[in-house]
Amino acid sequence: MAMNPWMETVAEAQRRAKKRLPQSVYAALLAGSEKGISYNDNVDAFAELGFAPHVAGMSAHRDLSTTVMGQSISLPVIISPTGVQAVHPGGEVAVARAAKSRGTVMSLSSFASQTLEEVTAANPKTFYQMYWSGSKEVMALRMQRARAAGAVGLIVTLDWSFSNGRDWGSPSIPEKMNVKTMVRFSPEALSRPRWLMSFLKAGYIPNLEAPNFAQPGQVAPTFFGAYGEWMQTPPPSWQDVQWLREEWAGPFMLKGVSRIDDAKRAVDVGVTAISVSNHGGNNLDGTPATIRVLSSITETVGDQIEVLLDGGIRRGSDVAKALALGARAVMIGRAYLWGLAANGQPGVENVIDILRSGLDSAVLGLGHTSIHDLNKKDLVIPPGFFRRLGE
Ligand SMILES: Cc1cc2nc3c(=O)[nH]c(=O)nc-3n(C[C@H](O)[C@H](O)[C@H](O)COP(=O)(O)O)c2cc1C
Repeated sequence: MAMNPWMETVAEAQRRAKKRLPQSVYAALLAGSEKGISYNDNVDAFAELGFAPHVAGMSAHRDLSTTVMGQSISLPVIISPTGVQAVHPGGEVAVARAAKSRGTVMSLSSFASQTLEEVTAANPKTFYQMYWSGSKEVMALRMQRARAAGAVGLIVTLDWSFSNGRDWGSPSIPEKMNVKTMVRFSPEALSRPRWLMSFLKAGYIPNLEAPNFAQPGQVAPTFFGAYGEWMQTPPPSWQDVQWLREEWAGPFMLKGVSRIDDAKRAVDVGVTAISVSNHGGNNLDGTPATIRVLSSITETVGDQIEVLLDGGIRRGSDVAKALALGARAVMIGRAYLWGLAANGQPGVENVIDILRSGLDSAVLGLGHTSIHDLNKKDLVIPPGFFRRLGE
């Protein structure tokens, strides 16, 4: 009997992704760093927050829509950029289509396996994400390409310091997928025949290149070639961030902020938005959960720039909690990757629908007519929950 493709929670999407993917691919997608303190805290901290619901006087109609960096979205959840490949043959285009069909924004990682042009064609509401990698000339060319492809916003991610060990082991990822590496990985792949078949049916083997690191028509570097360029680039100063901001000119997000002083400097360089983020717990382990540091930042700069949050969002109620603490919207990473791995585009749509209905239940129960009414009084906050960094 065919399995019911509908998934009722993100936990179910994760289970199906784990069952369907070869072990190395699943491990690359789970990621995390060192002991997994930040990875776990991102998720667990949401469970420490409670709700204070009403029983009567609630609203029959609830408005979940908002805007992020000038783009109208039907719910305050957008796709966070992830450079994960080989999860599903549909890849980033399937994610972009799912986001479009559910009325939200796609963000495309510069480590993505598909091109900017394909992705903006699938969803015109696409933000392009870059790291500080390569020379200024090369970065300017990449921004030019993104602009020409129609990207409507730039995300610059700076919370990466090349921490790479994890206690549960790192997957071995081949430099390039070819017949030789396919044979080496075949015992794993053969134990996951449905995943293998999905690529065979699509007529290609998983791509391990980063085409958006090159210019259209140029030979794309391998994933590791691109990573090498990034590792060798000296880290940026705030003047460099200012340069990026001016070079792009359009809507601009700085992703990866945890500290109050950094949030203020982001305002000074003229960003449109920041995302309070610790890279999903994939970077410096021990950075507190993003939901713990959020309100110190929204209270400081929330009236000047848009403040988003990412990290640990698994339920619609998590979205409600972030908004109650002042976030304009949230970005999701693993939740949609698991949906993609489990069931392609419909799997991602499924995950967005789960978050929408959970958020709607929270807004209903809390007696609001709009997500903009969510506030701190809706929450039960245990003593000592918050962290204030960099005051
Ligand atoms: C496997 C993986 C790859 C990622 N790659 C990128 C990337 O290329 N660029 C980026 O800005 N963030 C990247 N991220 C971070 C996400 O954009 C996001 O910050 C994080 O996943 C949010 O946490 P969550 O997975 O708990 O939702 C990646 C995250 C994961 C799990």
